Amino acid sequence: MNLMWSAIMMMLGFFFSSGGGQAAEVIKLPPPAHKSAVSLEDALLRRRTVRHFASRGLDLNQVSQLLWGTDGVSDPRGLRTAPSAGATYPVDLYLVVGERGVATVPAGVYHYLPKENSLKLITPGELRPAVARASLSQSWMAEAPIMVVITGEYRRCMARYGERGIRYTIMEVGHTAENLFLQAEALGLGAGIVGAFEDRTITQVLKTPAAHEPLLIMPVGYKH
Ligand SMILES: Cc1cc2nc3c(=O)[nH]c(=O)nc-3n(C[C@H](O)[C@H](O)[C@H](O)COP(=O)(O)O)c2cc1C
Repeated sequence: MNLMWSAIMMMLGFFFSSGGGQAAEVIKLPPPAHKSAVSLEDALLRRRTVRHFASRGLDLNQVSQLLWGTDGVSDPRGLRTAPSAGATYPVDLYLVVGERGVATVPAGVYHYLPKENSLKLITPGELRPAVARASLSQSWMAEAPIMVVITGEYRRCMARYGERGIRYTIMEVGHTAENLFLQAEALGLGAGIVGAFEDRTITQVLKTPAAHEPLLIMPVGYKH
């Protein structure tokens, strides 16, 4: 990578880190706010599954707030906004960013790193249409500027709870999904929720680890 390209990427908010011997692209997210003008009751009242989105993109502050509210770190001990059986944290969030979906963020799939409050690039490119196709062709999904794919890695929870860890992981995904719905409403956005998709195809399209089972996909954007 030449110096000029590095400088351009730095201006875009990227920095480069080495993990496991491989260069990785990481985007540091702005700190989330802990106050809002929208009451919890308003967010609950307005929450609906949204299936029509405006073409308007989001900014990095909105993305940071959305991911933090969904399953970010809310306590110095590393505890999160969603509860977790035995604090085993089997849930991961992957952000699918469309072309011009988020200002300064190229299209691609990013892994949310809660402790670092960062996004790590997993797969570059426009993948929303492929995700919608793998979701029984629910084409409305691809209208949203972003999608959050919520995955569960059962073995993290099963290491402590055995078979019951599967049930606990799926419950935890439900908690994060409702958090996302409410945080989206508090941001003046709307979210959809999709459980109907071909699991293996989603994993192949996103290039996420095979052990991270996709359990829900939530398109997010301005309501149309
Ligand atoms: C686990 C789960 C899976 C769902 N999957 C889909 C889906 O694949 N496609 C869709 O359009 N809506 C899906 N929904 C949304 C429901 O249809 C919706 O929640 C229901 O109609 C009630 O509407 P509301 O969310 O606006 O209150 C899903 C909801 C849940 C909880």
